[in-house]
Amino acid sequence: MTLDRRNHWQKIYSDRQSNEVSWFQSYPAISLRMIEQTKISKHSRIIDVGGGASVLVDHLLQLGFNQLSVLDIAANALDAAKQRLAGQAEKVNWIEADITQFQPIEKYDLWHDRAVFHFLTQASEQKAYVNVLKQSMAKDGFVIIASFSVGGPEKCSGLPIVQYDESKIKAVLGDEFRLLEICSEVHITPSKQQQDFSYFLFQYL
Ligand SMILES: C[S@@+](CC[C@H](N)C(=O)[O-])C[C@H]1O[C@@H](n2cnc3c(N)ncnc32)[C@H](O)[C@@H]1O
Repeated sequence: MTLDRRNHWQKIYSDRQSNEVSWFQSYPAISLRMIEQTKISKHSRIIDVGGGASVLVDHLLQLGFNQLSVLDIAANALDAAKQRLAGQAEKVNWIEADITQFQPIEKYDLWHDRAVFHFLTQASEQKAYVNVLKQSMAKDGFVIIASFSVGGPEKCSGLPIVQYDESKIKAVLGDEFRLLEICSEVHITPSKQQQDFSYFLFQYL
């Protein structure tokens, strides 16, 4: 695990409440709409990559999904989510890992990543992520990746990011992923800044 990267994120989550971070959403509308649209069963395996303290998992539990994993590099972000969920937390598989080095032991039917892949600015890290993604996915499984849009912010959490549009994300993921949908979102941060996000829904062939 890259220590600098882990320290950065642990510090962010120890300095701020989960609902004060710039990416906070109380209702992850596009993610939930895309997940429901895939029509996967409630027993499908879903992983929220870099889920941090996001409330997506709360909503998925409420909808009846029962094979949920949340992975993050920052253990304290996962702890915040576990505390919030209280008794429900034991229904979730919590994984502390750097996604570029993750070794999956199961196949996922749906992979969700909001604002994580875009931090990988080096081609070697992007390649490592895509290799992990391919090892992790069940055939015909769905992949949702949300990043800052081309023309949107150039940094997230003080770190440089890569902005994606259709051609850039397709080029980096390769031919084994078929693009099904793109959706734009103007996210309003807790400090009322606007951030343009693009959500890409793929199917793994
Ligand atoms: C901008 S936040 C987004 C959090 C969440 N996906 C959401 O939308 O609310 C990025 C998250 O990715 C995690 N993260 C960053 N780099 C990571 C990596 N290489 N592997 C796993 N998690 C990572 C951070 O700890 C943080 O929780």
